Amino acid sequence: MEKKNIILTGDRPTGRLHLGHYVGSLKRRVELQNSGQFDEINILIADDQALTDNADNPRKIRDNIVNVVLDYLSVGIDPKKSTICVQSALPALHALTFYYLNLVTTARLSRNPTVKAEIQMRGFADEGLPTGFFVYPVSQAADITAFDANIVPVGEDQLPMLEQAREIVEKFNKIYGETLVLPKAMIPENEMQRRLPGVDGKAKMSKSLGNCIYLSDDPKTIKKQVNGKMFTDPEHLQISDPGHTEGNVVFTYLDALCTDEHFAAFLPDYANLDEMKEHYRRGGLGDGTCKKFLINVLETTLEPIRAERARWEADIDSVYDIIREGTAKAVEITNATLARVRKAMKIDYFVDRSVVQEWNDLLRQAKQ
Ligand code: TRP
Repeated sequence: MEKKNIILTGDRPTGRLHLGHYVGSLKRRVELQNSGQFDEINILIADDQALTDNADNPRKIRDNIVNVVLDYLSVGIDPKKSTICVQSALPALHALTFYYLNLVTTARLSRNPTVKAEIQMRGFADEGLPTGFFVYPVSQAADITAFDANIVPVGEDQLPMLEQAREIVEKFNKIYGETLVLPKAMIPENEMQRRLPGVDGKAKMSKSLGNCIYLSDDPKTIKKQVNGKMFTDPEHLQISDPGHTEGNVVFTYLDALCTDEHFAAFLPDYANLDEMKEHYRRGGLGDGTCKKFLINVLETTLEPIRAERARWEADIDSVYDIIREGTAKAVEITNATLARVRKAMKIDYFVDRSVVQEWNDLLRQAKQ
């Protein structure tokens, strides 16, 4: 196998993507895509994985496929450079999952911290745990290996999935011979980008908490989220009071998003964020001014995304063709890997008739 740089990443289509996704992964994907440093970039819409905890609500997954693709296209994922594909239409992934399941113990799966946390969050501990959900890290290993991906850009919460995938690859290659590519996680270096909190300061943006800013939100909604819900420093009561910038959500968002150009355009009293923070800590800078600046920064970031989304929304036929063509390409890629895997596992009976000769020899020998 020639060594290539291949990226696979993906999302569960369970809702629209928000600013946390943008800062934590989408922006990075676009940069990687445009860097020209990769032989292949594949983006998987993981609808099968989404079904592992939404079996009773397939409509939700179906509806959100279009939302997620629109979000991709509107942030600058270019279907000419990145292959966008739909998991359920890639049968090789199902077959690979089935083989990999034999290489993983239930005890090992039970230790996965991300799955453990999700089981708690979804109440599966009381209701009963769907087997498909329990084993989804194995299916994710199938996703990654099917594309021969060596680089998997993901958030920190996905590190246990990559660990699991690497173990499967190592075990597979040891038993069946060097077949699969060992993948590596690529996580954002910048602390701010790893985990953008909700507007209320809670660790994560989540639909049920109502603390998200969606990429598709209109300016009014964004203003409402920032002015009405965004947490600052509870000890900063008067403008003249010294304030804290750490743990202050307004500054966390500014850390993740603002540039010196934003200051030049909207808050020329300061050259950069350091100067602004300095003033806030000293006292004399009000939360209203900070929020107003943040709203401008958010608008500058989201306005072009919103405009691009509107353009694609008017042409869903093309959006459909993009994922249809991307998926057709991914079928080829993943089928090729499955063929390699079956050959390594000696279950490639029908590729040619060579097993007839083998079986004849075997039977002849047994008679001797
Ligand atoms: N589990 C990932 C998430 O929840 C989505 C995903 C599915 C994925 N398959 C993948 C990510 C393969 C990277 C590679 O975000």
